[in-house]
Amino acid sequence: MHLTETQAEIKELARNFAAAEIAPHAAQWDREAHFPIEVARRMGELGFLGMLIPEEYDGLGLDTTSYLIALEAIAAADASTAVLMSVHNSLPTQMLLNFGSEAQKERWLKPMARGEMVGAFSLSEPEAGSDASALRCQAVRDGGDWVLTGTKSWVTSGSFADVIMVMARTDAPDARRGSRGISAFIVTRDLPGFHVGTKEDKMGLRASPTVQLTFDGMRVPAANLLGEEGQGFVYAMRSLDNGRLGIAAQAIGIAQAALDASLDYAAERKQFGRPIREFEAIQFKLADMGARIAAARALLHATAAQKDRGESTTLHGSMSKLLASETAMWVTTQAVQIFGGYGYVKDYPVERLFRDAKVTEIYEGTSEIQRIVIARELYNSHHSI
Ligand code: CAA
Repeated sequence: MHLTETQAEIKELARNFAAAEIAPHAAQWDREAHFPIEVARRMGELGFLGMLIPEEYDGLGLDTTSYLIALEAIAAADASTAVLMSVHNSLPTQMLLNFGSEAQKERWLKPMARGEMVGAFSLSEPEAGSDASALRCQAVRDGGDWVLTGTKSWVTSGSFADVIMVMARTDAPDARRGSRGISAFIVTRDLPGFHVGTKEDKMGLRASPTVQLTFDGMRVPAANLLGEEGQGFVYAMRSLDNGRLGIAAQAIGIAQAALDASLDYAAERKQFGRPIREFEAIQFKLADMGARIAAARALLHATAAQKDRGESTTLHGSMSKLLASETAMWVTTQAVQIFGGYGYVKDYPVERLFRDAKVTEIYEGTSEIQRIVIARELYNSHHSI
């Protein structure tokens, strides 16, 4: 794929940073389920936490392709670091940029773009995952505040994020308005009644803390309501259109790392007197892995260009996320097979890549939800890139 000069520079910067400061430690962070907050700070200094934010709000004002290239390079080194970068850049900052007031942008978006504050996104609840609009966390207006009560789950970076975009109900329990009864709130961890709950013990992405949040009559100033009351679900869905591009890039990074490791291993590993890459059984796997990754990346970059032209990416974003995440799972499965017994132990990276790939088929909308979105969009209109 042809890259502009800026895109090539960003790719080089991200690869060098990932090789020097992330890749050497990724296995240890995974083993210890430790998130390196200092790496998030370094990403902030390099501009990786404000890539899509215009310069007037202290971001880099880059195009979507540049951002996704950087994200892929970070994910190839460590998918846990990449998910922080994806969520921060695609969800809370984009919600502030697109729907926030100037005062909110000044107070939160600018420091987030500079990487001084880390953002999180909180839509899901224990009983509301794929059926996101069934969420129950309740906000009740009381004077100059909203009072929030409820439990949110699966919050990436929720144990340390400074700013969390929380979706909660603002309709009355006896007059429910479905998805139109949901509003978005800018929540900071210093608010009284904010509690971090259980940290999940996950299969993969172990270095990225995923937590429950509990709001126990948490008082949120009315100035922290984002945009219009009742529009929070639509804001979240529009932001997830962006978020799904990030998860696709993360999945492609994981898959590329698995292919690179497999190419090296197949050249070194000898059986029956020859490097195993000389066997057709291995060659065909490597060829299919490369072809599927190239196809997923091509669709993602075409979708990024569509976004930068100002077009809706609901259809192709869901397609990109679906294709990339299923590619990552398939490619990492082949990689473990190529490594044989060595793929099943922690001495080589493919075991971690295999575990990390799985969640890309689950979060920011499962593969089943992506298929629902794709089918709906195909029924509604005929799109082409
Ligand atoms: N863009 C703009 N608006 C959208 C939209 C989009 N992509 N998708 C839906 N909407 C709007 C609809 O137009 C509708 O608006 P009106 O009321 O004005 O007509 C409203 O939102 C409700 O839409 P639906 O009727 O389609 O809602 P639904 O209840 O049928 O749900 C769904 C649709 C696609 C299944 C949705 O619930 C969904 O995406 N579920 C998956 C949830 C998800 O992705 N969760 C991710 C959690 S975050 C996470 O994982 C982050 C992390 O930490 C890594």
